[in-house]
Amino acid sequence: MAEIIDGKKISNQIQDEILLEVSDIKKNGGKIPHLAAILVGNDGASETYVAAKVKACEKIGFNSSLIRLPENTSEQELLNKVNELNNDKDVDGYIVQLPLPKNINEQNIIEAIAPEKDVDGFHPQNVGRMALNLPTYIPATPFGIIQLLERYNIETSGKHCVVVGRSNIVGSPMSILMARNSKIGNCTVTLTHSKTPNLKEHTLKADILIVALGKPEFVTADMVKNGVVVIDVGITRVKSEQTKSGFKLLGDVKYDEVFAKASFITPVPGGVGPMTIASLLINTLKASKKEVYK
Ligand code: GUN
Repeated sequence: MAEIIDGKKISNQIQDEILLEVSDIKKNGGKIPHLAAILVGNDGASETYVAAKVKACEKIGFNSSLIRLPENTSEQELLNKVNELNNDKDVDGYIVQLPLPKNINEQNIIEAIAPEKDVDGFHPQNVGRMALNLPTYIPATPFGIIQLLERYNIETSGKHCVVVGRSNIVGSPMSILMARNSKIGNCTVTLTHSKTPNLKEHTLKADILIVALGKPEFVTADMVKNGVVVIDVGITRVKSEQTKSGFKLLGDVKYDEVFAKASFITPVPGGVGPMTIASLLINTLKASKKEVYK
């Protein structure tokens, strides 16, 4: 039976800690951290995520700006807005919510963001700094996972970590972070993906299993060993007759059966998800204090 890793609780703890620090900054007449977000178009999920980020800023006393642009915004118009934020002295950090409409090249936009304001940690310069173990902004989901492992005192050094999924946002950075010579790190890492044959052979060897695939209930009990630490990044909305809304959220792990074999497990919802907001707030505070780029 597993201990449940309570991401909601840890995220709230972190937000309380930041709130105290912001109160001190305000008392001492310092600069109030300011996060901006650009949202292009009307993607439902993106609207929800950005609204949650703005709300969290308000709760802890940050300033926040939401810049909404229409679905038919051109790449040049978005680049102009990015440039404006790069030069806005009051904005410490900002994000461009992804995905962007198809006519806009995401990589062109990410590379136009000033690295010192890139609190998502998506700019190639910040990804490179992460790989080299230099001060940087670590992307929100991987950073959230690192903090969960740290706050639950989970030993990672010398362990075998298997990552399932190689996205730029989660799997790839996670594999880099878990191998780094760092307090949370020092793992032997296997990064698996859609072209990996015999995936189960790998997952069965995991001491720490991080699944970021986007396939609901993909990992079953026969794929893990006893005592495994399971981090489930998946969150898929599926139809359900058991809930009032007619929907429920499922992770990438078949929770009940894997729970019985694991030593620690993140639930969905309430595991990794809430940590992404806490990570973004930490990165914004770092940007405001110029901790990464002096
Ligand atoms: N879309 C899904 N996750 C993220 C994220 O962490 N940052 C941004 N900018 N867009 C996202």
